[in-house]
Amino acid sequence: MSKIKVLFAAAEAVPFIKTGGLADVAGSLPYAFDQEKYDVRVILPCYTCIAPRYRSQMKDVMHTVIFFNGQDRYLGLRSLELNGLTFYFVDNEAYFGGSGPYTDYTYDIEKFTFFCRSVLAILPIINFQPDIIHCHDWHTGLIAPYLKTSLSWDPFYQNIKTIFTIHNLKFQGLCSREFLCQVSGLPWHLFTEGPLCSGSGGNMMKGAIQYSDKITTVSDSYAEEIKTPEYGETMDGMLLWRSPDFCGIVNGIDYSIFDPSSDPSLAAHYSASTVSRGKAASKAALQKELGLAEEKDSFLIGMVSRLTEQKGLDLVIPVLERLTTKPCQFVVLGTGDYQYEHTLWEYAASRPDRMKACLVYDEALSHRIYAGCDAFLMPSRFEPCGLSQLIALRYGTLPIVRATGGLKDTVIPYDKAGNKATGFAFENYDWGGISWALDNALDTFLLRRKDWNAMRQNAMKQDYSWTSSAKRYEALYEGLL
Ligand code: ADP
Ligand code: GLC
Repeated sequence: MSKIKVLFAAAEAVPFIKTGGLADVAGSLPYAFDQEKYDVRVILPCYTCIAPRYRSQMKDVMHTVIFFNGQDRYLGLRSLELNGLTFYFVDNEAYFGGSGPYTDYTYDIEKFTFFCRSVLAILPIINFQPDIIHCHDWHTGLIAPYLKTSLSWDPFYQNIKTIFTIHNLKFQGLCSREFLCQVSGLPWHLFTEGPLCSGSGGNMMKGAIQYSDKITTVSDSYAEEIKTPEYGETMDGMLLWRSPDFCGIVNGIDYSIFDPSSDPSLAAHYSASTVSRGKAASKAALQKELGLAEEKDSFLIGMVSRLTEQKGLDLVIPVLERLTTKPCQFVVLGTGDYQYEHTLWEYAASRPDRMKACLVYDEALSHRIYAGCDAFLMPSRFEPCGLSQLIALRYGTLPIVRATGGLKDTVIPYDKAGNKATGFAFENYDWGGISWALDNALDTFLLRRKDWNAMRQNAMKQDYSWTSSAKRYEALYEGLL
């Protein structure tokens, strides 16, 4: 029996390029499918900022020229096999140069439109005819519209099914419809009659929601939330209309990478049975590394996050005093909006023994924070899934979260489940909510240590590896074919 061929298309995938959870998903979920049954490959842009150790291993597959946005453009394809999986890279240095994957928003629209066009142009040349193209987020939003409109006459593409996964509805690929029409070369009526426009603007994600065979998002709660005006970012009506083909499938993480018993970034290794000793050693090493007071009884709270409004930074700033007054200590690792970076940096500088702000992107340090902290703070305004709280659970670090989206689905709150719980959750997005959750966590840590330790065991026993979610994707694929 021939294998089911699936092509993942995404703007980021670990270990090549990452700014957030999208990369973790696109680079780890493909490994979780039944390899006997599935031939899964991944395609992403060949950014010049991909580390030389990977770029030097890439092989040239083909190159050609395509007519795009008014002129002939170079289109190369490179590939690299990593642990048995083929990754393809769409090459055009003019579009994918620069120090990061994203640049100016308008230019990003053009370059990811080029990416969508190129993914489809490449397939017949390399003679790879996927059964399914699984697209991720707005950067890949035009793949389904191309297939269902301008390429629908071509027998090569006619049987290809599409799945579109929404990782974050906040970003839709919005621009003027004249511009999107011009760069995409798609017919103008799509921009006047609905599928590719919202209001008077062009909208790439809307095209994907309209034309994909199935739509998913990354948790059940977020799937429900975005069908409402409060979370729907103007797509709630479309998603309600598509609800027979729309569902949530919770994310997983790669348990071989995020494993406190073997993680090469850690000072000490531990498992559930050695967690007390292992975490004490990890905490001491982290306090030392960060220059915090080396107090073993302090309540060390960590945060690893993009520093944006989505992640609840406007709740964190007013509780900095609470987070850094004895016996608490706070470490934040993240980059993002200048106003948050500046405030966090200033505050940390004024009390270096109690708070550290690491305003960089640092994978290895993030692992030491997940391992060395007692609790992990994630007070998101909205959260499609969230991987950080899953990593924290895996490292026995109890999440303190706002009960929204994937956080609601993956953290079992102490006030509702007692010692079956895995963390702390608050409902109301306000100062009262976060303060209540922080106090509850601190009191449990200080005064109810037996409960705390039981929760830590529960946390480490949760299974958020990809195993069960990959099965749900497989069922979705097979239902389509
Ligand atoms: P999002 O994708 O919305 O940013 P997720 O929780 O899904 O949020 O995923 C964030 C991922 O990025 C996690 O793997 C987290 O550890 C990582 N991450 C975020 N900021 C940093 C940083 N400054 N340094 C290292 N890793 C980071
Ligand atoms: C997005 C979301 C995050 C999710 C990630 C991976 O970046 O903000 O909640 O975990 O995608 O799906």
